[in-house]
Amino acid sequence: MTGDKKVILSGIQPSGDSITLGNYLGALNNWVKLQDEYDCLYMLADMHTLTVRQEAAKLRSRTLSLLAQYIAAGLDPDKNIMFIQSHVPAHAELAWILNCYTQMGELGRMTQFKDKSQKHADNVNAGLFDYPVLMAADILLYKADLVPVGTDQKQHVELTRDIAQRFNGIYGDVFTVPEPYIAPPSAGSKIKSLQDPTAKMSKSDPNPNGCIFMLDPPEVVVKKIKRAVTDSEAEVAYREGKDGINNLLTIYAAVTGKTVEQAANEFSDSGYGDFKAAVGEATAERLRPFQEKYRELMNNKDYLEAVYRSGAERAGRLAARTLSKVMKKVGFVPR
Ligand code: TYM
Repeated sequence: MTGDKKVILSGIQPSGDSITLGNYLGALNNWVKLQDEYDCLYMLADMHTLTVRQEAAKLRSRTLSLLAQYIAAGLDPDKNIMFIQSHVPAHAELAWILNCYTQMGELGRMTQFKDKSQKHADNVNAGLFDYPVLMAADILLYKADLVPVGTDQKQHVELTRDIAQRFNGIYGDVFTVPEPYIAPPSAGSKIKSLQDPTAKMSKSDPNPNGCIFMLDPPEVVVKKIKRAVTDSEAEVAYREGKDGINNLLTIYAAVTGKTVEQAANEFSDSGYGDFKAAVGEATAERLRPFQEKYRELMNNKDYLEAVYRSGAERAGRLAARTLSKVMKKVGFVPR
């Protein structure tokens, strides 16, 4: 970190066996494009996953696997700081302080809290409610200017701005007020479920065919796309009311680097069967090098360990600076 470039922070939860195509197109793939222009920190958000019950051994192996996926997608460990959230204790410490500057009403308005508390009605724990404050701590510790996320996380970044502004209003300029950084929808900031194209693609999709995982074998990818819900018309076109086709056109555009318009023109004379086959092939093709690199990395655990250790050290130093400033401002006796 030279201090000359703008700072970026983002993260993904290690809560599935692999990330989804939505995580990849909405977040990770865009991070790769930012690594030369910005000082970037990419976190493995393991603490966030505890808001939903996890198996300990799985969480451990998924965290390492997620790091391999970050690198397989093209993030260079020499250019970016990659670290495991729980390795930097400042996150939990700052989250506590920020809790005292966040209102219950604000957290109650978070749409993700409302959704998840319905989905996990038997485990509406305080962490699930408080999760956006931990996310605010993640961002504010590193004075991030920009937070690249998919559309579903925008509300949390906006809450982070409110918390930062409130704190700065009381104590002076302590925090950088961050901005959400969202790729255009055509690049995949809002990938929908293949089985319910009005809902976002998510690893917790009740129908396993709704979600493509980045480590799905090519034939599974092709099959899931073939089964995607579309409509009863027979025209491949991007327009309102054609959620299923719009989603497939977006996926095709995002994985091939074409515009949605180009994609729609390419298939304007095709039937749904041929169109789906082409989207499936293009997606599987895009996943192939990612999966190869991933397998290579998972055979080199020592390397992965070296990456997350050095990441935690570098992130820890930056975070400690902000935390100590905050602690001083609120009146804690210096350690
Ligand atoms: P998570 O793990 O749910 O998702 C990781 C990233 O993937 C994006 N995403 C999508 N984008 C497009 N279409 C989809 N269907 C789709 N599904 C997921 C998300 O918007 C996100 O960018 N709270 C965060 C992790 C986090 C974080 C942070 C992010 C923790 N601390 C600080 C930024 C900054 C989360 O649960 O993301």
